[in-house]
Amino acid sequence: MIILGIETSCDETAICLIEAKDNSVKILGNQLYSQVALHAQYGGVFPMMAKREHGKNLTPLLEKCLEEAGMAESRILNIELDKKLNSKFKILNSILIREEGLFEPLLELAQKIEKPKIDAIAVTNGPGLEPALWVGVSFAKALSTLWNIPVIPTNHMEGHVVVAALEPSQKLKVESRKLEYKIKTINYPAIALLISGGHTQLVLIKDNLNYEIVGNTKDDAIGEAFDKVARILGLPYPGGPQISKLAEKERQEFPNKIPPFPLPRPMIHSHDLNFSFSGIKTAVLYTVQKITKMTDTIKQEIAKEFEDAVVEVIVKKTKEAVEQYGAQTIIMGGGVSANKKIRNDFTKLAEDLNIEFLVPEISASTDNAFMIALAGYINIKAGKKPESEFRAKGNLSL
Ligand code: KG4
Ligand code: ZN
Repeated sequence: MIILGIETSCDETAICLIEAKDNSVKILGNQLYSQVALHAQYGGVFPMMAKREHGKNLTPLLEKCLEEAGMAESRILNIELDKKLNSKFKILNSILIREEGLFEPLLELAQKIEKPKIDAIAVTNGPGLEPALWVGVSFAKALSTLWNIPVIPTNHMEGHVVVAALEPSQKLKVESRKLEYKIKTINYPAIALLISGGHTQLVLIKDNLNYEIVGNTKDDAIGEAFDKVARILGLPYPGGPQISKLAEKERQEFPNKIPPFPLPRPMIHSHDLNFSFSGIKTAVLYTVQKITKMTDTIKQEIAKEFEDAVVEVIVKKTKEAVEQYGAQTIIMGGGVSANKKIRNDFTKLAEDLNIEFLVPEISASTDNAFMIALAGYINIKAGKKPESEFRAKGNLSL
C-alpha cells in the first residue's frame, strides 16, 4: 500500500510517500523544508511563524513529493469530474478556513493533477506546537476530502520509535534509486529512550505498539537544555549540533584534561527513572557569569563537560530501566539521538549488557515525514482504523 506522511509538529515541514508491503518499505518521495534558519534569528521556535511557514510550504512540498514519486500525472479535462471537484471546494474552504495560505495553492494543485493512487494518509496530530500541528491536520483532512483517502492520526513520538527498527534492504535496487528498508522484528520487552527538543522519556515497550512511560523529565527536555546552554555560550540555534561539535573538538584535542568547570550530574542517584535538566542549565549560566573573559577555549571546555554530564545521566538511567524490566532491546529516537557521543556510548552500553541497540540513521533521527508514514503503516497493519473527527493535540502522550 502507498502511504502519504505529513509532519508539521515543530519547525520542519515534511511530506513523504512510502510504498509498504509486509515487512518492507520503499521511499517513493521524501521532501522536507526546515525553518531552522528562520527561527534561528530569534533564538528558538516561534509557534505562529512556524504555523505560517507550514501553510506556505505544504502544498509545494506535496507537489514535489508526488513528482519525485512519479505520481503527479497531469489532469485531463473532464466536465463531469470538474463539477464534482467544484462541489468539494466549499468543504475544503471550510476545513482550511483557519490555515492562512493553504486553500488557493491546494485548489490549483487539485485542478492540475489527477488523483494520486494513495491508500492512506498518516498525519502527526501530536505532541508538538498546537498551532503548527493544526496546519498538518487540516491539510490531511482537506486531502482526504479532495481525493477520498482515509486518514490515520499519528503520534510523533511513535514515529521516532518505529523508524529506529529499520535496516537497508539487501535487495536495494540501485538503478531505481529508491531507498528500500526491512522492518526488523524487535525483541521485547524493549526500553525506548526518546530524546528531543520537547521530550526526555524512558518508555517500556512490552509488545508491538504497547507503550508505558516509565521515566520522564521533571522540567526541561534534554534537547531544550542543549539549546539553552548553546544560547548561554553565544552559539546559534539549534544548539545541540553546535555543542556536540565543540565537545568533540575538546575531546580530540585534550583527551586527558580535567574539566576546569565541573557540572552536576542531575538526578543520577535518584533511584528512579526520572530526569531534570533545568538545574544544569542554570549551573552553566552561573559558571559563565563568573567568567570575566569568555574565550573559544572555555566554550569548548564547558560544551564538553555539559555533554559528558547529560550523557552520563541518560546512560545510567537507561541501564537501570533495562535491568528493572529485563529489556532485550534498547531503542533510541528523537532529534538528540543524532548526537555522536550519545550514539557511541549507547552502542557500548548495549554491548556491555549484551542486548540489541536500535537507532535510526542520522538523517531520520530529527523530525521527518518518513517516520510518520511508517508509523501510519505499522498501525494500519495492526488494525487501527482511520478517523475523520480527530484534533491536533499539543500534549498527546504515547
Ligand atoms: O526530534 P527533533 O528534531 O524535534 C523535536 O521534536 O523536538 O529534536 C530537535 C532537538 C533540538 O533540541 C536539537 O538541538 C537537538 O534535537 N539535536 C541535537 C543534535 N542534533 C539535534 N542535540 C544534541 N546533539 C546533536 N547532534
Ligand atoms: Zn521530534
